[in-house]
Amino acid sequence: MVRNRTLGNTSINFFPVGLGAMPLSLEGHPNEAQALEVLNTFVNGGGNFIDTANVYCVDDSDVGHNEQLIAKALKQYKNANDIFVGSKGGLRRPKGKWTVDASPAWLRQSCEKSLQDLNSDSIFLYQLHTPDPDIPLTDSIGELSKLQEEGKVQHIGLSNVNVEHIESALSITQIMSVQNRCNLFERTSFKNGVIQFCENNNITFIAHSPVGGHYQHSQRGDNFLLKKLAKKYAASTYQIMIAWLLYKSRSIFPIPGASKTSSIKDSIQAVNVKLSKEDMQSLEANIN
Ligand SMILES: NC(=O)c1ccc[n+]([C@@H]2O[C@H](COP(=O)([O-])OP(=O)(O)OC[C@H]3O[C@@H](n4cnc5c(N)ncnc54)[C@H](OP(=O)(O)O)[C@@H]3O)[C@@H](O)[C@H]2O)c1
Repeated sequence: MVRNRTLGNTSINFFPVGLGAMPLSLEGHPNEAQALEVLNTFVNGGGNFIDTANVYCVDDSDVGHNEQLIAKALKQYKNANDIFVGSKGGLRRPKGKWTVDASPAWLRQSCEKSLQDLNSDSIFLYQLHTPDPDIPLTDSIGELSKLQEEGKVQHIGLSNVNVEHIESALSITQIMSVQNRCNLFERTSFKNGVIQFCENNNITFIAHSPVGGHYQHSQRGDNFLLKKLAKKYAASTYQIMIAWLLYKSRSIFPIPGASKTSSIKDSIQAVNVKLSKEDMQSLEANIN
């Protein structure tokens, strides 16, 4: 089995595959019973990190939907303290659109609402959802750092960033994770040095959209080579995509989304797929 992932330079260990909880709350999301079943399936399968955000909801009338769902699920678990939740602030959802607001005031307000929705005194990992072109990054990070000093946030992470952003944030405070879109078909974070930077600086690289993303995953899974390797390893094409990320670097932590229990059940099993070096190379050479 693939080895666990670690958060930054801490000794906190994650099961190698996390759960991206976003599909449980976007337009067309499953009902509450099914959503709780997805969360339970993940935790019962050994998973211990759930990624969320205040804006995982349909629109601004139900901000916090995803966090409230996670809080409900955690309430049922005897081992709730061993399940880690990462949330985010820095976006808004006016009428269902996605807009950026990483102003210090909005980050503080969002964090305080997330604490309520998660029914918690402190958020384990709080990630800046994306840098705001209208606000100096250091101002946004400065506010997260204050929230951390106040104990409202335990660890700070970034999302949708390049190396320059990470360096700028590191000049203010310690950064434990970077969450960018990363999958076999979207390798920008390899090409622009973000993953190498994370490896060199003990920062966990959280791969969001690891199987192609919310809207494109079914086309991705249809790829000929993926299908061929899936057959060879008696795995699913999704497992091959996740296993590729797991073998690329010990710093990479994939968080596949799921709205069906069958999806997360399958994704968790990617930890048992032992891709050969030749097949890793073949995937990289033939898919881009
Ligand atoms: N930081 C950011 O800006 C950002 C942006 C996007 C996403 N994210 C985070 O990253 C997470 C993952 O990204 P994502 O959900 O957009 O895309 P994804 O993980 O690439 O794809 C998710 C979809 O793929 C399907 N799927 C996943 N594993 C499967 C499997 N083993 N077998 C069959 N189907 C499978 C699921 O379908 P079903 O719904 O049918 O189960 C799921 O809804 C999100 O949930 C969110 O937490 C962060």
